[in-house]
Amino acid sequence: MLFRPKTKVCLVLLQVMDIIEQIREEFPALHQQVWGKPLIYLDNAATAQRHRKVLELQELMSSRINANIHRALHKLSADATDLYEAGREAVRNFIGAESREEIIFTSGATSALNLIAFSLVRSHLTAGDKVLVCEAEHHSNIVPWQLACEVSGVSLEVLSVEESGEISLERLRELLEKDDRIRILSVNHISNVLGIINPIAEIVRIAHSRGVLVVIDGAQGVVHDKVSVKDLDCDFYVFSGHKIYAPSGIGALYGRRSLLENMPPYMGGGDMVDRVSFGRTTYAPLPLKFEAGTPNFVAAACLKPALEFATAIREDIQVQEHEKSIVSTMVQGLQQIEGLRICGLPQELSLKVPIFSLDIKGVHPADAAQMLDKMGIAVRSGFMCAEPLVSRYSESGLLRVSFAPYNTLSECEIFINKLKLVTDMLK
Ligand SMILES: Cc1ncc(COP(=O)(O)O)c(C=O)c1O
Repeated sequence: MLFRPKTKVCLVLLQVMDIIEQIREEFPALHQQVWGKPLIYLDNAATAQRHRKVLELQELMSSRINANIHRALHKLSADATDLYEAGREAVRNFIGAESREEIIFTSGATSALNLIAFSLVRSHLTAGDKVLVCEAEHHSNIVPWQLACEVSGVSLEVLSVEESGEISLERLRELLEKDDRIRILSVNHISNVLGIINPIAEIVRIAHSRGVLVVIDGAQGVVHDKVSVKDLDCDFYVFSGHKIYAPSGIGALYGRRSLLENMPPYMGGGDMVDRVSFGRTTYAPLPLKFEAGTPNFVAAACLKPALEFATAIREDIQVQEHEKSIVSTMVQGLQQIEGLRICGLPQELSLKVPIFSLDIKGVHPADAAQMLDKMGIAVRSGFMCAEPLVSRYSESGLLRVSFAPYNTLSECEIFINKLKLVTDMLK
């Protein structure tokens, strides 16, 4: 009787381990050796591995259903078009958008943000207006706005984050109250450096109360948090396929229909037009107005199996618990390493996803990453395409470790032990 609870805990743990092992079986890339060591892949925030069903569809389309979409009347083209549009429906469903017209395929989060920046600044802003971005943005959510500002007389403002990496809603409110020229706020759902879930619903409410449009960079958000653009009421939401078990070269942009309808196309070319003449060209209806040229239709179709997998795991309570265990094991383990600082530790640990950026006194992150690589452990080092934020923590960059649901607790423990070894050797 006395030992029953312990037995129960062990049973639950065994069940979770079993589920994670089953998930691992679906990812062929995990089952390989690197430098003669079993691969421990902890660079998922950069690119996640592809699911088996994604690889199968990629192979099927490349070898059998390879024809341009939307154009020809033949069977292969019709089949490719159906698969492409099924990818769109999968995105619509995954992020809870109302209609397929609001889902635009792009080549990734970067191209989606460029599209929004250039088109929205042209249609909705005038010289003297301002765009607000957060200090913790990826370059993809900074540079497109800088470029769009340069050609429109609009300027860029920055909302800095707290020492913990969190956004202060109070500071946001004050900024917006003080400056009514801020017309657009573009902010990440989860930073690729800090791994903190931002209170985006509250951010949207505050911005909308001042008439400010909100763009959300969900490149990391869709991987670790549930998204319903309808409930969030955001104006735009973007993400990339390769971070969520799909191939690279595909991403999606959700835009509120009334806004998309009034925005000019970003690129011109085939498929995005209604009629073309040298005197006047008219555009195709949404979503094609924003999809010029032959898209990566294979990768777009592959979003369906990828997002079906992502939906299944995000609804699985045991997988969610596993993710929390990774976070707490990492925090406890890392705190034992002398001179190590976790950049981005929120007051509430439930807001932290398993993305850890580390500053280790006396250790260059590139040296640590190289040594870990030789041990079979793939991590990232440097500025993580977020130089303004990372330079606040360190001049030489950080070491980033990012987990996916297929990473085990034992991989997490091996990483911590190897990092201790590496830091002892490098200090
Ligand atoms: C938060 C965030 N935004 C944008 C991007 C850009 O994504 P992509 O390179 O797939 O376009 C990334 C990629 O790391 C990211 O993490």
